[in-house]
Amino acid sequence: MSVVKVTEDVYAIGASDRDGKKLFERLFPIPEGVAYNSYFISDEKTAVLDGAASEVEDDYFVNLKTALGGRPLDYIVLNHLEPDHGAAIGRLIKTYPEARLVGNPKTKTILSSYVCDDAVSDMLVVCEGEELKLGKHTLKFIMTPMVHWPESMMCYDESDKILFSQDAFGAFGAEGDEIFDDKDFDDERLEKMRRYYANIVGKYGAQVSAVLKKAAGLDIKTICPVHGLVIRKHIGEVLRLYTLWSGYLPEEKGVLVVYASMYGHTAALAKEAYEKLKETGVNAVLFDVSETDTSYLVSGVFRFSNVLAASVTYNAGIYPKMEYFLNDLKALNVQNRAFSFVESGSWAISSGKLMREKAESLKNCRIVGDTVTLKAASYDKAAFDKLIADIAADVKA
Ligand code: FEO
Repeated sequence: MSVVKVTEDVYAIGASDRDGKKLFERLFPIPEGVAYNSYFISDEKTAVLDGAASEVEDDYFVNLKTALGGRPLDYIVLNHLEPDHGAAIGRLIKTYPEARLVGNPKTKTILSSYVCDDAVSDMLVVCEGEELKLGKHTLKFIMTPMVHWPESMMCYDESDKILFSQDAFGAFGAEGDEIFDDKDFDDERLEKMRRYYANIVGKYGAQVSAVLKKAAGLDIKTICPVHGLVIRKHIGEVLRLYTLWSGYLPEEKGVLVVYASMYGHTAALAKEAYEKLKETGVNAVLFDVSETDTSYLVSGVFRFSNVLAASVTYNAGIYPKMEYFLNDLKALNVQNRAFSFVESGSWAISSGKLMREKAESLKNCRIVGDTVTLKAASYDKAAFDKLIADIAADVKA
């Protein structure tokens, strides 16, 4: 990414990591890369909004220098300090010692643990609703704690009606110089945003809902997040999705069928369940926990109303990758879903009871149908057909 104009005086100066970082947060696969966006405002005063990750730092500094065009940098606005944006702050301070840092009280506390106290002593500390005048542009600050860190804040440019939203409304995926969402969202684009939300911000639905209430009072023409595309065409759609996701409400009726199988028997029954559900007209997707990273499964749970989990019993418990997935749903505060189960094993089968206990621990989650037991390669076909019928009826209700 080079320097790209967002509006007359506002520029995108971030950069994308296309292949240098295989795991975001050393946890989430990003085969499509990721963009680290930053923005620059050229007014009577100049301001850079957010830093960059170390992987793209050199490109970011080249872009910032180009955008400045020889002018001094007056402000470094720190909307979010997580090192995927904050890694460049030390170098920013050294390169532009005349620039004043701008953050809230929590920014100051957290940043002082990353850089020396001297660097933050002169920070311009802003609170909810306070403003920073740059000339034609005035930034109004909105505190957004836990979206995604305690110090997180956004700012709204009243002149161009831009919301600089830091992690909110972000997405996985590297971007080029086509930084706007001018093309229609396809499934792939939507999944990049959903998987990012569900796994990175998903735990903080209540806090995201609070941000959406604040955003409802603003006239927003453009959203500039720190990952993904600049949003100007799909603002209504992303606000609709964020309202669903933050309320832990499914986007659509349908079933995420996920299975854990060691020798193929559980996989075969899960596939049969998936095919029968499709035959009844139910929208469904099928994943193998051993082949699919948990982040994609979590994304599927944020999308669909129902989950059918089929797991072999392992060490008298749930198969480890299935257990990790179910534990992640609890960690991310997933709510309002319906779960059904197939358990399997050759003796002492217990995975069904244990999976059910995990689902029942999730807020406002229901169990649909009776758990079907697959013993080695044998199962009660009538019970299996009844479970599929019960799930289909629940989805269609
Ligand atoms: Fe993209 Fe929470 O940092």
